[in-house]
Amino acid sequence: MKKNIPLSTIRSFKTNQEVRAYLLLKEKHLKLTRDGKPYLDVILSDRSGTIIGKIWEYAGEIEPMIETGAPVGVRAIVEEYRGNRQLNIKRIVPVNEEDFSSKGFSWELILPKSEKNSEKLWRFIEKSIDKVNNPHILALLQLLIINNQDKILKHPASLRLHHATMGGFLEHMVYMLNLGIHAAKQYKLDQELVIAGILLHDIGKLDELSGYPNNLYTDEGNFLGHVVMGYNMVDKAISGLQDFPDELALKLKHILLSHQGTYENQSPKKPVFPEALLIHYLDELDARMDMMKTAINQELDDGEWTSVKNYFRVPLYKPQKDTNEHSAKKDKTNTEKKS
Ligand SMILES: [Fe+2]
Ligand SMILES: [Fe+2]
Repeated sequence: MKKNIPLSTIRSFKTNQEVRAYLLLKEKHLKLTRDGKPYLDVILSDRSGTIIGKIWEYAGEIEPMIETGAPVGVRAIVEEYRGNRQLNIKRIVPVNEEDFSSKGFSWELILPKSEKNSEKLWRFIEKSIDKVNNPHILALLQLLIINNQDKILKHPASLRLHHATMGGFLEHMVYMLNLGIHAAKQYKLDQELVIAGILLHDIGKLDELSGYPNNLYTDEGNFLGHVVMGYNMVDKAISGLQDFPDELALKLKHILLSHQGTYENQSPKKPVFPEALLIHYLDELDARMDMMKTAINQELDDGEWTSVKNYFRVPLYKPQKDTNEHSAKKDKTNTEKKS
């Protein structure tokens, strides 16, 4: 790669700038332009974000040289297309740790990681499981949670939507548990069912997503989805456990099938008892809070409001980092420009 351009990350890319970066190739699609010329459509990511890129020259030759889920070195011009930044890629090469660490490459640069300490989060999971006395629930959690510790510590909670980081799955469970334990007390619910339901509600995601480095949907994930996959995992685990109470089994399975709340959100059932309803709302709350935080953090310019191009479809308030400046006045013009 050209050496005189310093390495940068997606978050800092500015329109019209020529940039050089190590990125993860998330997707590549060889397509044809209207005049029948091949081009490559790629999705690239690093710790700081995700960006679309186009390769207009030698697309057919380049396509087999780069591998989905693997890191690449990219030199590109940042352009703007329909209000979004996009890369016009001039050069893209496969890279590896062995040959490129001396040239500034590291996995740390490209894999998004939860800011939280995963060991501390895991201890919270263990403490929550300690609150459970029911031996059947404990046996189930041993099989599906404790035995999957290594995977859970690194897994994301989604592809892009929320907690899409290494350790995001764990963070999502802990945030829900923290609220759920208090809520169960307040609403006088079955706390053990709430704890187990939270821990298991997204368990299907362990197989729905391939995890890092590439973090893609698996074939099973695309065909079945985490609701059905999680249901199957719990069903299989319960049928291997002796004398698991029928009603408890049905309630846990119902929590998995109803946690997304509505048919449109791929839940085949709507919550039919309070613990299931609570878990649905906690899931929704935690996902939305993370999505809003991410949408605000990923906006690059200095204005006080984000663009409307986010899940919530409204400009989100983004206070200035530098509180000493009277920035309200200064940024009024930025807001006006965007709307
Ligand atoms: Fe889910
Ligand atoms: Fe969830």
